[in-house]
Amino acid sequence: MTLRISDLVNAEASLVSRRCWSDPDVYALEKRGIFGRSWLFLGHESQISNPGDFVQAYMAETPIILSRGTDARIYANVNSCTHRGLPVCRADHGNTKRFICPYHNWSYSVEGDLVAIPQEGALCNKPDKAQLGLKRVSRVESWRGLVFGCFDEQIEPLESYLGDMRFYLDAFLDRFAGGIEFLGAPHRWVINANWKLPVENQLGDVNHGAFLHSAIIPREAQDLIEELGLSVVPRPGHGATFRLMPEDSPVDDMAWGMEGLGGMFGGDEVQEYLREIQAQAASRVGDIRARMKGLTYGIYPNLSFLWSNTSFKVSHPRGPGKVEYWSWAVVPADAPDHIKKILRTNYSSFFGPGGILEQEDSEVWIQQFQGSNIDYADDRPYYYGLGLGEEKVHPELPGLVSVTANEFYARHFYARWRDELQAVEDT
Ligand code: FES
Ligand SMILES: [Fe+2]
Repeated sequence: MTLRISDLVNAEASLVSRRCWSDPDVYALEKRGIFGRSWLFLGHESQISNPGDFVQAYMAETPIILSRGTDARIYANVNSCTHRGLPVCRADHGNTKRFICPYHNWSYSVEGDLVAIPQEGALCNKPDKAQLGLKRVSRVESWRGLVFGCFDEQIEPLESYLGDMRFYLDAFLDRFAGGIEFLGAPHRWVINANWKLPVENQLGDVNHGAFLHSAIIPREAQDLIEELGLSVVPRPGHGATFRLMPEDSPVDDMAWGMEGLGGMFGGDEVQEYLREIQAQAASRVGDIRARMKGLTYGIYPNLSFLWSNTSFKVSHPRGPGKVEYWSWAVVPADAPDHIKKILRTNYSSFFGPGGILEQEDSEVWIQQFQGSNIDYADDRPYYYGLGLGEEKVHPELPGLVSVTANEFYARHFYARWRDELQAVEDT
């Protein structure tokens, strides 16, 4: 390619070329340099609790079956028959003993091993079935129930890949004695935008709230975010934003979920439940994390977590200009069923394809992608310089920390993205 990655993102990543989101050659490099070498989110262990349970997943464009084997271990296999390539698993989720390909009925165990070839009875030479199992994902690891896969055998362990992002994830995940549960199947829909646009939005862009979402987010709420909000980069490419509530805040201001629709309108029982979680928070996650009221998180390259609306999301690329967005509602695993349903309204009212905020954000990503295709403005890279150099270390919070108006979360993301693409550019 004539385009050089070093021409797309400047040294401090304060200027980023429009081509990063629109160029097919850049996308081809991303498939190798980013999606071929990163830990990619596959699902949550709560989705595959029992032997034989499975869910479908993707690693970028590669379809994956995530399953619980009869040995209780977790397996991730490419959902493509080794005979002629058809998907052998057709259901989004379920429990099974076998995956049976519809074309010639080769059948595979839930671990992905080839079990039977109907045609072989009529043949003299039997194929070696041990060599014909589904292609297994090289590495699969989980942390706090979150399961990730990587195509690259050499990748660092998941825990070190997440690094200090675990400190911030635990502020939420470890708050609940029984852990979290992914409630039901994900919403899945297609957006005509580049995969990095939703990622960047959830990674740290909380400042568009009162502007883009002015009908929903009142100016006073945004003022509080600006006053109490912090943006953190625990490791380049990962990010966390939250409000750090003052120590003397009333419990109803501090408690997770209380300002959501479920908390506001769910009645006394829900509110008591949320207060009880907050009462235990300091002993579970420590004082400073008990005072965190999360907003948005991002885990490199394409996993997002909206703490404020308790949703995990993955931005699966489908070419430079298309995203298949997956979005799950998340609740405390040991909450009573009727409370889980009430808490979920906070997700489904605002996020998912019919969510009020999601629709506004999606429209922005589509228009951003159109902007990144304006060739005539190629000499006007986007400006990512807000707050350049203002991020600092913090005495109690790992990583670099700054106000939410500082765009350093995006600069770190695009600097890592640039360096990882450069590493494969000439290979
Ligand atoms: S393509 Fe799967 S059995 Fe032939
Ligand atoms: Fe938004």
